[in-house]
Amino acid sequence: MPVLGFIGTGNMGSALARAAAKKPENRLLLANRSLEKAELLREELGGELTFNADALAADYTFLGVKPAGLEDLFEELRPALAEAERPPVLVSMAAVTSIDRILALAGREVPVIRIMPNTPVAVGRGVILYTCSPLVTKAQEAIFLEAMSEGGRFIRTEERLIDAGACISGCGPAFVDLFAEALADGGVACGLPRALALELAAATLEGAAALMLETKKHPAQLKDEVCSPGGTTIQGVRALEKGGFRSAVMEAVLAARGKG
Ligand SMILES: NC(=O)c1ccc[n+]([C@@H]2O[C@H](COP(=O)([O-])OP(=O)(O)OC[C@H]3O[C@@H](n4cnc5c(N)ncnc54)[C@H](OP(=O)(O)O)[C@@H]3O)[C@@H](O)[C@H]2O)c1
Repeated sequence: MPVLGFIGTGNMGSALARAAAKKPENRLLLANRSLEKAELLREELGGELTFNADALAADYTFLGVKPAGLEDLFEELRPALAEAERPPVLVSMAAVTSIDRILALAGREVPVIRIMPNTPVAVGRGVILYTCSPLVTKAQEAIFLEAMSEGGRFIRTEERLIDAGACISGCGPAFVDLFAEALADGGVACGLPRALALELAAATLEGAAALMLETKKHPAQLKDEVCSPGGTTIQGVRALEKGGFRSAVMEAVLAARGKG
């Protein structure tokens, strides 16, 4: 029965706790600066309300505070961490914060799993990039993946690729939202009711993504398969190319990486 501690039950911390709670064998410890927030989550999910340092009694302790709040948090955690006979695996979700930085803040050698989740974790369809520090054992990694499997798709990668990957999976939901909204606006301009246009846009994105993942076909091939000669779709593709669609999307990812 893995014990999962969550320090910081804000947007992402609570989304991950909800995913963990879908597995009845997981035991949750919930801590947050404003206790009411953690208490509301405890009422929803079960588990125990704890103080920050007590959440270190877990097997895995998720750090769900903003990167700027890590220093203060570790001021508080360091004494308990120093005394811990068997420290938990620290699971850091902090953007642009390396494992080395977490270890420096922790003040001692501890196993660390660095994750980069995205908002669809909230509905069990997240993409969670992750990497493990050398102290994380194969068994700890396997138990972690099993405990969190309701969150979505976990993809292990080298730490040096996480920040760039986050520009697709972390920022991508906002880019996709923009595309979906524009798709629906086009439908409204064609006379569709707004709600129908939005449902069509979202379900089309979902289906096209599933087709790409399941068939493993290159998107260019899938696009070619929809574009019959002289047909309507290729006219739409022409309009997107004229508007610089692909370049705009590439620029968005580069801008998110600070390279625009
Ligand atoms: N949101 C995303 O899409 C996303 C994606 C990937 C990674 N992340 C990462 O996830 C982390 C959290 O982001 P978020 O968007 O979930 O932020 P958030 O909604 O602001 O949540 C942060 C939570 O941390 C709590 N907190 C702050 N200092 C604390 C302390 N010293 N002890 C205990 N709890 C404390 C806050 O409590 P109060 O209620 O008192 O403010 C708040 O509930 C960040 O490191 C971010 O980089 C977020």
